[in-house]
Amino acid sequence: MPSSHKSAYRGTDYLLGILVLLAAGLLLIWTARYLQPVRLPPLSPGSYHFIARLDDVAPGSSLSFMLEGRPWLLARRESEIMAVSGLCTFRGSKILWDEDNQVFLCEGHGCTFGYRGHRIQGLAADPLETLRIKIVGERIYGARRRS
Ligand code: FES
Repeated sequence: MPSSHKSAYRGTDYLLGILVLLAAGLLLIWTARYLQPVRLPPLSPGSYHFIARLDDVAPGSSLSFMLEGRPWLLARRESEIMAVSGLCTFRGSKILWDEDNQVFLCEGHGCTFGYRGHRIQGLAADPLETLRIKIVGERIYGARRRS
């Protein structure tokens, strides 16, 4: 009889050991998941659309165009090309390119935005939305930034 008690205890100890190991494993997995940085889904690359040819925009000048049903403004400096939303972030007035000062101006209330769409002065609190620009050969393509 004493030997059967011993084996019963061993069986219980064995099960308890397995449960402890399982709990430790689950705790380890949970901790690893918790400590892992949050993985956001990759940004959607968006679709590039043909905007214009390089010849269409002389250095220092700009070009208005429509993309995905919205007006945009492409401005070219010596070696840089930038495209911003053609609508102001304050009240949606039309954005113009000030060739002399190389800034974007809102014709509504005179807000000024820098070449990269950041607000310089005026009532607008938010910068102008910008496009990702890709130049392939002589052709300029733009894509909306997805968030
Ligand atoms: S709408 Fe742009 S500053 Fe008023």
